[in-house]
Amino acid sequence: MQSNLRKKLIQLFTEADGEFISGQKISEELGCSRTAVWKHIEDLRKSGYELEAVRKLGYKMIKKPDKITEDEIRLGLKTKKMGQTIHFQDVVSSTQKIAHELANNGAPEGTIIVADKQTEGRGRMARAWHSPEGNGIWMSIILRPEIPVQKTPQLTLLAAVAIVQAIEEQTGIAAEIKWPNDILINGKKVVGILTELQAEADQVHSVIVGTGINVNQLAADFPEELQETATSLRLASGEKIDRAALVQTIMSTFEKRYEDYLAYGFEPIKLLWESYALTLNRELTARTLNGTFHGKALGIDEEGVLILETSDGIKKIYSADIDINPS
Ligand code: BTN
Repeated sequence: MQSNLRKKLIQLFTEADGEFISGQKISEELGCSRTAVWKHIEDLRKSGYELEAVRKLGYKMIKKPDKITEDEIRLGLKTKKMGQTIHFQDVVSSTQKIAHELANNGAPEGTIIVADKQTEGRGRMARAWHSPEGNGIWMSIILRPEIPVQKTPQLTLLAAVAIVQAIEEQTGIAAEIKWPNDILINGKKVVGILTELQAEADQVHSVIVGTGINVNQLAADFPEELQETATSLRLASGEKIDRAALVQTIMSTFEKRYEDYLAYGFEPIKLLWESYALTLNRELTARTLNGTFHGKALGIDEEGVLILETSDGIKKIYSADIDINPS
């Protein structure tokens, strides 16, 4: 099928939102005969779309294939800026790496880099991020906020809030945030966020927010070392999740929170973050490069720094691995 006719047909079905569209209407919109419509529908079926045909009513889309491609993300995207420029590749080394190159070459704010698989996915603290094909969302977002360098960690917290909200909107699951940027369901990690900067001492050129979301993995899909600590949205909800639709929802929640942030500062984000935080008022162990600290998490400050009440007084934690101590 010609690819723009295919796109138009997918768009028609997406906009119909599960309602029937008559064969007549499709043939008018596509500018082709009813027989040609039928052939196009058959082609979509072959690519994994579930389409129902009922005499006199026409066709309706029951299910899209779980494909994460540029078209699938673009069709139905409801944002002004976030995700309006999409770089999609089936396989990349790391979407962060590509995002850095694109940001250097002037990519606009809101550009996203999405891949079905990463061969060198990067996690925090120079760890690897397991990014197999077919099951996850491996995505980097380029931002160009006019903020001082020391405020950029706030954007990690903003991203965590936006993703928790999108997960709730799409799946009904209430996920929680473990400072600074892990999203957990029932104590297991489902999302990791890695924020990287292109900046000089006094100027931010771009902030690259990388998000790894375990979407459709089954338990056996995780390597042994992650079996105890990782989960996926599918494992938590019992249902396969449409990854492209989730990217669209994240773009919407991210755009709203980012607009709030630019208009009103960090306070509204901080309040939301605290409402989703698993770590607040809990006894924690924070392993930092400067040592290990135990104490009660009192909250986060204006810069997103964790405030820990230890037996030696208040300690500010800028970067750490956190364990929540059993209560
Ligand atoms: C963490 O360690 O928790 C952060 C993981 C971040 C992984 C994402 S996947 C998309 C983007 N590209 C990368 O190489 N890493 C981030």
